[in-house]
Parts: sequence; structure tokens; C-alpha cells
Amino acid sequence: MNAIEPRTDLQDEASLQLDANGKLRHLLTLKGLDKGLLIDMLDDAEGYLTAPGSQPARSRVLAGRTVANLFFEASTRTRASFDLAGKRLGADVLNLDVNTSSRKKGESILDTIYTLEAMQVDVMVVRDASAGVPAYIARHVLDHVSILNAGESDVSHPTQGLLDVLTIRQHKDSFENLAVAIVGDIRHSRVAMSTSQALTTLGVGELRLISPAVLAPDPESVPGAIISDNLKEGIRDADVVMALRIQRERIGNLDGIPGIDEYFANFGISHESMMHAKPDAIVMHPGPMNRGIEIEGSLADGPRSVITRQVTNGVAVRMAVLDRVGKTMAAR
Ligand code: NCD
Repeated sequence: MNAIEPRTDLQDEASLQLDANGKLRHLLTLKGLDKGLLIDMLDDAEGYLTAPGSQPARSRVLAGRTVANLFFEASTRTRASFDLAGKRLGADVLNLDVNTSSRKKGESILDTIYTLEAMQVDVMVVRDASAGVPAYIARHVLDHVSILNAGESDVSHPTQGLLDVLTIRQHKDSFENLAVAIVGDIRHSRVAMSTSQALTTLGVGELRLISPAVLAPDPESVPGAIISDNLKEGIRDADVVMALRIQRERIGNLDGIPGIDEYFANFGISHESMMHAKPDAIVMHPGPMNRGIEIEGSLADGPRSVITRQVTNGVAVRMAVLDRVGKTMAAR
């Protein structure tokens, strides 16, 4: 095991990500970022969307820059979208194959980072199973290098939070009037954390986090949220319902976790359970989905689902974030 510094407090992380001029240098967490910056990033992402069926947006803002994707945990959507986002902005993109990388041979994370710095990598996109890794790296890189958190243990997944709120903003009028229900394994979900933080900063009317009691979050980690283990009540008249996967890889002891049928019956997002939400409520899921466990397949494929829209927005959000840290870099 590589020695990782103890988890740093989030406020510290929040300040680490802005440079001396208040510009975004690293994206480590959405916690502590102000509403204006979140809205600017959503607006920038909107500018990178094109009509369905047309060619994707392209620019050369990152021409000459190098982005390295370092995914030390499984990923499909996040990794592919960071790869496409970098390429569509004109950067050289390096996707490090972690299965053949020297970290498998016991190299420390910092040695991997210093190696990439020596190759003049400018942006490192990091996914890791250990809490604190993105901030730890951010503290050790050269002044011009940016670190983007692409999923940190059960702590945070800031670009996912941004793409989720962008998707909600495209379908609903104002956050103030919305009831958003996130359903599933809240306790182990970095998506639940980052999306909740973004919704809270944007002034969401009501945030409800619904799960079996064993998968409920620590209330202190989600101030202002309503925590419930009753799906029917939790999604009553909700405008947005987001289902989450059970994060088995983060649960040491599965005792007390309901079996598949019991889970689907009590916490599955289905045509039947959606009868309790508003008639125009949208259905979301960050993927990967386990159909028939946390979500009914035909609902995920149906007209209320905005799941593929989340994926499209993911590329645009990652372009917006890369563009922004690239501009911060250029201004130095
Ligand atoms: C999520 C993740 O990795 O945190 N997926 C994603 O990034 N779209 C959710 C999950 O793994 O369940």
C-alpha cells in the first residue's frame, strides 16, 4: 500500500482549488465553490452542446496542452468523456493504462505524478479509491499543473455533480421550486455527495436522500437534506428522481444489505414507484445501471428518462472545466 496522507478537511480543499486571483486552478470538490462560479461553469458547458445528430463542438483552446487521464478505479462514462473533451479542445490526451502502469509494481502515486510532470503534462484527471488523493496530488504538483477529481472514494465526484445539475436545469425552471429525490446507496456514493452540494449551493427547494437505513448518509455530511428510508414518502411530488447503484466495492460487510428482490420492491425506481412523483418528474441515473435492482429497465429507456442526456452533458461539462483551468494556466 502506498502511504497516503490523512484525509484533509474539505474547507482546505476548497481553498486549494482557486489561485491567488480567485480563478479555478484545480477542481477537487464542489463544496465551497460559490454559486456564481457554478452557474458560469454550467453556462460554459451549455455553450459546448450542439443539436442532436450534428457534429460535436470543437475548439483549439487547449492546443499545445497535454491532459493525462489517470483512472485507478473502473470507469466508462467519466473516462471516455474526459478523453473526448480533451481531444475536442485540441489537447494531446494520454490515457494511462493503470493495469500496465508502474503503480501496479508498487510505484508511489507521487512518483507516477512526477514522471508525468517530467513529460510536460498540464492537466491530470484522477480517479482513485482512496479519500484525499486528488488534494494530496494537487499539493505536490508544479505551479502550472491542474488536477481534476474524476471520482474520489465515497467523498466526491465534482464533474458528475455539475452534469447532474446542468441536466436538471435544462428540464426544470428554477432550483428554488424543485423537490429532488436521490434514491439508493447514499452512504457510499460520491455522486450523491457532489450532486447534493451543487443542488444546495444553487438553492434547491427540497433535497431528499432516500435509502435503506444501513445505506443512509451521515446527516452532517449533507446539511439541510431530508433523510428518509421510505421511498413512497420520499418521492411524493418530487420533480426529479435520481437512482443510484449499490456501491458493493465500497461495502466491507454486506450483512444487512437487502437482497435484490427486496431492494427492488422497496427502493427500486419503477413505473409503479414513479406514480408518487409529479407527473412530469424526470428520472436520472449516473450509470452504470443495474437494471432490475435500483431501476426498472423500461423506465430507464422511456420518455421520462434523461439518462443519456446526462451522458451528453458530461462531455460538455468536462470541456467547460478543462477550458476554464486551461485559461487559468494561460493567465499565469
Ligand atoms: C459513478 C461513479 O463512478 O461514482 N459513475 C459515474 O462516474 N458515472 C457511479 C457509480 O459507480 O455507481
